[in-house]
Amino acid sequence: MAIEEKLLELKQMRDKARLGGGEKRIESQHRKGKFTARERIEMLLDEGSFEEFDMFVSHRCIDFGLKGQDYLSDGVVTGYGTIDGRLVYVFSQDFTVFGGSLSEMYAMKICKIMDKAMKVGAPLIGINDSGGARIQEGVKSLGGYAEIFQRNILASGVIPQISAIFGPCAGGAVYSPALTDFTIMTEGTSYMFVTGPKVVKTVTGETVTEEELGGAEVHGSKSGVTHFVADDEQEGILLIRKLLSYMPQNNLEDPPLSPCDDPIDRIEDSLNSIVPDTANKPYDIKDVIHLIVDYNEFVEIQRHYAPNIIIGFARFNGMPVGIVANQPNYLAGVLDINASRKAARFVRFCDAFNIPIVTLVDVPGFLPGTAQEYGGIIIHGAKLLFAYGEATVPKVTVILRKAYGGAYDVMSSKHLRGDINYAWPTAEIAVMGPKGAIEILHNKELQDITDEQQRVEFLKQKEDEYRNKFASPYVAAKYGYIDDVIEPRNTRFRIIRALQSLATKKDINPPKKHSNLPL
Ligand code: HXC
Repeated sequence: MAIEEKLLELKQMRDKARLGGGEKRIESQHRKGKFTARERIEMLLDEGSFEEFDMFVSHRCIDFGLKGQDYLSDGVVTGYGTIDGRLVYVFSQDFTVFGGSLSEMYAMKICKIMDKAMKVGAPLIGINDSGGARIQEGVKSLGGYAEIFQRNILASGVIPQISAIFGPCAGGAVYSPALTDFTIMTEGTSYMFVTGPKVVKTVTGETVTEEELGGAEVHGSKSGVTHFVADDEQEGILLIRKLLSYMPQNNLEDPPLSPCDDPIDRIEDSLNSIVPDTANKPYDIKDVIHLIVDYNEFVEIQRHYAPNIIIGFARFNGMPVGIVANQPNYLAGVLDINASRKAARFVRFCDAFNIPIVTLVDVPGFLPGTAQEYGGIIIHGAKLLFAYGEATVPKVTVILRKAYGGAYDVMSSKHLRGDINYAWPTAEIAVMGPKGAIEILHNKELQDITDEQQRVEFLKQKEDEYRNKFASPYVAAKYGYIDDVIEPRNTRFRIIRALQSLATKKDINPPKKHSNLPL
């Protein structure tokens, strides 16, 4: 064969591979408002940067009439490219080939790029759109999944892993995204569940649609399985690009610094009056976050799940940080099971990838009640405590208002190796709120007061005494638990200075195989 013919053959093979399951199925994909596997990669990566592997791979199955039914690439597109000039590895499942279902060779392709990403220390992005295990391949497919899971586990904390769910993701297939750091789902076109509506109907008798069982809305607000819900695939892809800008390539690097023109000493006068005079009045902690970070830009994670705690990425003078903040606007910012789990996982992500943590505290304590106790708030609250206590990245804390009880300890306190702990003059640091404290301390006296008016006056006087004594930052400051009481309007500057002073921080945990996080 002459070289011309060989080149033509190569071109024809490539064209065939690029067609995936054929034009009809591509059209059907588009009709559903979805892009194809290759279109998604084009949108995700810097233009012209994609280098594909294993385009000519096909399955080896001859059962169930699959002999001769070959599609080049076998239902998944894999390779590497760049995002903002930084290397990433990517796989993108092709629903047009056997419904994107996973075969032995398909799993091999994914594992190959996972191994490469680990060797060179580059993030891994997986785009999921699949009917799950390729039924015709049986246990080979199940084994393939587990090979991927094993690699997800070993890569955890070494390279950032991000999963996009742009179609079905069902059965055991859900566990690969669950093992990764961040999951993004699209509104209306994606779903994730361990067992589908038909099995649910048979086993429990419940009638649910796919959307009700595992749509983006459900996982964004009820289960917390997804970290982001995007309106469409384009938005989801932009989000992946943005998220990566806050992360290092791997756990041995620092997160990338960006140029910053936003003045580091920007004074925000409105912060001096943002905390209401009345202790129980809410305000939006996100207003505080927006005012103090670079360019008011904050990428919130799990926005609709456990909104009593806010987590997300921002920058201070171009330096990426993870922000954890109680939200007085929702359930008074109380710590409950979901909030504890949400924040704990985020703190651990930041710690694994050398991203400093800035904690803004206004917390009335842990949520009381049987629902929380039966649900194991003790164990779940301990997760957040553990995460903060174990974290060795720079930790800067600002107490804005309440820091009551165990929640004071948990929220990156000095005693959990908080590096720099500030308080606003409005801070109230105490074992509990004045009302609860007085009812316990003066229980007997209160029982003896029969006159209601007298009782109210007594309570007020005692509560005022208590507030003056404990509900201020100065007792904690007296013991050095608070490094300084700062003017709210200077918060941005003080945090930036603190982070700068901690840039070379080194802290280590005792040698061990791994800790035993209260799971
Ligand atoms: C082989 C599959 C397939 C699968 C879909 N196809 N799923 N082929 N194995 N798992 C094929 C279909 O035969 C069809 O082929 C094409 O993909 C598109 O599928 P449709 O059903 O026409 O598409 P749609 O109506 O959009 O429905 C999508 C779907 C449905 C909801 C995903 O296909 C479906 O329910 N598939 C089975 C899902 C499932 O139960 N998977 C196993 C889960 S258990 P043609 O030739 O007609 O285009 C599992 C265990 C993993 O995954 C365990 C890991 C530990």
